[in-house]
Amino acid sequence: MFKYPVAEPEIGEEELKNVVEAVRSGWISSKGEFIEKFEKSFSKYIGVRHGIATSNGTVALHLALVALGIGPGDEVIVPDLTFAATINAVLYTGANPVIVDINPDYWCIDTSKLREAITPRTKAIIPVHLYGHPCDMDEIMEISERYGLFIIEDVAEAHGAEYKGRKVGSFGHISCFSFYGNKIITTGEGGICLTNDDELAERMRILRDHGMNPKRRYWHETVGFNYRMTNLQAALGVAQLNKIDKFIEKKRKIAKMYAEELSQINGIILHPEMSWAKCVYWIYSILINRRDITREEVAEKLEKQGIEIRNFFYPLHEMPPYLRYAKPPYIASEISRKGLSLPSSVKLTEEDITYIVQKIKEVIKSNE
Ligand SMILES: Cc1ncc(COP(=O)(O)O)c(C=O)c1O
Repeated sequence: MFKYPVAEPEIGEEELKNVVEAVRSGWISSKGEFIEKFEKSFSKYIGVRHGIATSNGTVALHLALVALGIGPGDEVIVPDLTFAATINAVLYTGANPVIVDINPDYWCIDTSKLREAITPRTKAIIPVHLYGHPCDMDEIMEISERYGLFIIEDVAEAHGAEYKGRKVGSFGHISCFSFYGNKIITTGEGGICLTNDDELAERMRILRDHGMNPKRRYWHETVGFNYRMTNLQAALGVAQLNKIDKFIEKKRKIAKMYAEELSQINGIILHPEMSWAKCVYWIYSILINRRDITREEVAEKLEKQGIEIRNFFYPLHEMPPYLRYAKPPYIASEISRKGLSLPSSVKLTEEDITYIVQKIKEVIKSNE
């Protein structure tokens, strides 16, 4: 346990009240009024017509892929730098993942490398809005239209982030969010698929509920899953959603403080925000680009002072289950090796950030 955590949930009285209400009502499984309320209010917040809440973000991705008919023989493009759930969901379907490099300027999928990765078998692209920063959605949607590819946005880390003034998660054919405890808003475990397509929404609802015909109980049209969210999770989510803008504002304030202070240090590359982006800085991240001190040394010294530090994700192409899909070189290796995430909990105070920044400066200076 660190005094200054990278992320932590902020659970208040409203969350408690809703969960107690759900428990008292007896609707503790996947029926109950909080589920519909959460699906409606979250999809409205992002600006999409339908919301299908799920047990977590990983199964949301799997549900989206299956609903789009993706399976063995198909190819799905994923970025090299992401949490493994993105590629695992593709593998669950039997499709082949194609790992594309990231843009070093903002760490998301490099759209200039997409065309060369497309083959006649390509069915979909999963752009991941990494660490709160949006992908270049104009480019991605243009490629989607030109090559007839589905776009499944992975928005697990970027609730409320915007591309050219429009919320991410509203661009793709389906978008998938996670509400794990460290995310911008949480339902404990949880996820959601959003879509504007009525048929896709219906298909996802059926697949989420064992493939059962909604008008004919226990009659199964297809092999589905139990990917439902519980009313208890949704009760938490409804309360969290009321605070989402406050959380994002706080994340952006923390980012501004880090940026102002850390920009004075040579060899620290700040968390990017492209001119077309509103980044929500899910966890504020930097690259350590110095000869005199490694990322590991910085992390070790800070952690001794109660400051939690997290290394970047490893590039997918370097890890055993995904080696066979690797087509190196990837710039993601260099970015990943240098990347550190800093305490970004919405509970941190200005004094906390000032303290953390001061310790980072001391650690770097002590090596000069
Ligand atoms: C980019 C990304 N995709 C998918 C997931 C999976 O979400 P969950 O943990 O809710 O299954 C996560 C986070 O956990 C993530 O960071």
